[in-house]
Amino acid sequence: MSNKKTYSIEFGEVWVNGLRSDSIVDEIKSRCNIVDVIGQHGALKRAGSNHKGLCPFHGEKTPSCVVSEQKQIFTCFGCGATGDVIEFTKRYYNLDFQEAVEKLANQYGIEIRKFGGGDNQKREAMYELNRKAARYFLDSFRKIPNPALSYMAKRGLDAKTLNQFGIGFADANWDSLYKYLLSEGADVNMMKELGLISESKGKCFDKFRNRVMFPIINTRGKVIGFGGRVLDDGTPKYLNSPESPIFLKKNNLFGLNLTRQDINKNDCAILVEGYMDVISLYKAGVRNVSASLGTALTENQAAMLKRYTKNVILCYDSDGAGRAAALRGMDILRAAGCNVKVMHVTDGKDPDEFVKAHGAEAFYALTKTAKPFADYKIDLIRQETDLTTTEGSLEFLHRVTSVLKSLSPGEADLYIGKIAADTHISEGAIRMEVFGNGFGGGKKEEPVNTAVRTEQDTGRRKDGTDPVLYLEKNLIRLMLAQSDFIQRTQPYESVFRDAVYRKIYETMKGLYREDEEIDVGKLADSLEPEEVAVLSDILENVKLTDKEEDVFLDCVTRIRNERLSRREQQIIQMLSLADDETDLAKVEELTRELMTIQQQKNNRE
Ligand code: CTP
Ligand code: MN
Repeated sequence: MSNKKTYSIEFGEVWVNGLRSDSIVDEIKSRCNIVDVIGQHGALKRAGSNHKGLCPFHGEKTPSCVVSEQKQIFTCFGCGATGDVIEFTKRYYNLDFQEAVEKLANQYGIEIRKFGGGDNQKREAMYELNRKAARYFLDSFRKIPNPALSYMAKRGLDAKTLNQFGIGFADANWDSLYKYLLSEGADVNMMKELGLISESKGKCFDKFRNRVMFPIINTRGKVIGFGGRVLDDGTPKYLNSPESPIFLKKNNLFGLNLTRQDINKNDCAILVEGYMDVISLYKAGVRNVSASLGTALTENQAAMLKRYTKNVILCYDSDGAGRAAALRGMDILRAAGCNVKVMHVTDGKDPDEFVKAHGAEAFYALTKTAKPFADYKIDLIRQETDLTTTEGSLEFLHRVTSVLKSLSPGEADLYIGKIAADTHISEGAIRMEVFGNGFGGGKKEEPVNTAVRTEQDTGRRKDGTDPVLYLEKNLIRLMLAQSDFIQRTQPYESVFRDAVYRKIYETMKGLYREDEEIDVGKLADSLEPEEVAVLSDILENVKLTDKEEDVFLDCVTRIRNERLSRREQQIIQMLSLADDETDLAKVEELTRELMTIQQQKNNRE
């Protein structure tokens, strides 16, 4: 049949690859990223779309070893060494092929059990069986007329796109595929294992009937499973192959076999939910796209994407399920080290509908407005909490804090300003929550050795009053109790970042006279009602113990530590930017200062 011929040419790469190479080697090549593997032995720097570093195989001072993440190979322009990740490992450790494979498998937790022998043959046979099924569905799709073709045409797809994705048709008969595969001598148990057929009352019948078939093809070109969509509004809308030895859902993304080059070229991946989203976008010209297929995004999928780009735009459906999935997906991608942005289409329920109505340009324009993950989350929390109530504000603060804590101190700082500007919550309060009692630097806080804090800290969440500003409150309480603390606090007064607390402190400073306690009445007279409220709160809720001196020293230590941590961060940042042209003396001076700071911090702990 001439149709068949056209297909094998158009699908040449897919089908030929589908027959090739053993699975453990495949698995290693797809899981052990060559950039990570070589990067473990020497720093690699990005150079255009590649990475570059010193060649581990010959002595050199200027890097001439180029590693291609996309191609998963390395080449040294100095000594000519070249190869894939297995070749690298062989040479680097002086191993033979099998030893190198075992070493990598071990290191990356790939089960070596699959190596060689029966399992491997079985996997090959499974790939082959799926390939045959895919071919069968394709051929049925090419018969004109067939309802799947009309259905897809009605959804705006053209022959070229359908071909590119290998879309097929499972007809409405009970056992068309089963009979065909039998005639090809296929193993019935394997058909069952791959979820192509099932058996009931001693009879085998096709699992996929009267559906448009979407083959799921991995990045090595092998058909690992299928999704089948009903042609009407029957259920389930999509039927997917079950997991099998060759189809682990958590390890695959739909469409990546076709789109990974575009993802790499664009240095950006658009991640959508469904088969149709990928296909529609691809047809419209948005080709840097892939789908997680309705399931929650997994770590493996994130790691896979990251091989082609760090920049991911999540564009899940606009409904509740899509939004919830986006929230989870974001965290997974962040944990994998991706830069994540999120968007939802502004018209239609999903990217498929949007791009059909408005085209690729409008879709790309929309991607420019995708929100960085923190903005997305903060906006969402904002919508879900009522900032006009104290409870709402506390909940907002609490939830926003966990977002900010996942950012670098520098990033968090930017958001803190913005949040404070658009809520009535002070920067000081947010900072306190995020950095733990007002400290940057991200170091773990030492436990507090006084009863005062514990009491306050638990009191706060229960009674729902203003967030505690631990240092400010305690210092003010101490100054009220014993005025010489006012003087002793002066070197640390920068801690009063919150406007209300600063005003109280400044006013007390104004009222201070040696050997005289502060007259609370006079103090209150010089304050605004809001400030008086804070003052009363402190007087009422911050209990004095007989450990005033300890509390004071605790506060001072924390303030000093915070300053040290900030300077430490600053120096680390400066040093990280130093390059060949940086003045060596300056680098040395900074390094020495850094060491001193770190010593001081250690001594104190
Ligand atoms: N999905 C699934 N099983 C279902 C429903 C959905 O596996 N019963 C998966 C499919 O991979 C689907 C994706 O989740 O592509 C998104 O689901 P949905 O938004 O419902 O499908 P669409 O892609 O919008 O499909 P269509 O446009 O054909 O309705
Ligand atoms: Mn959808």
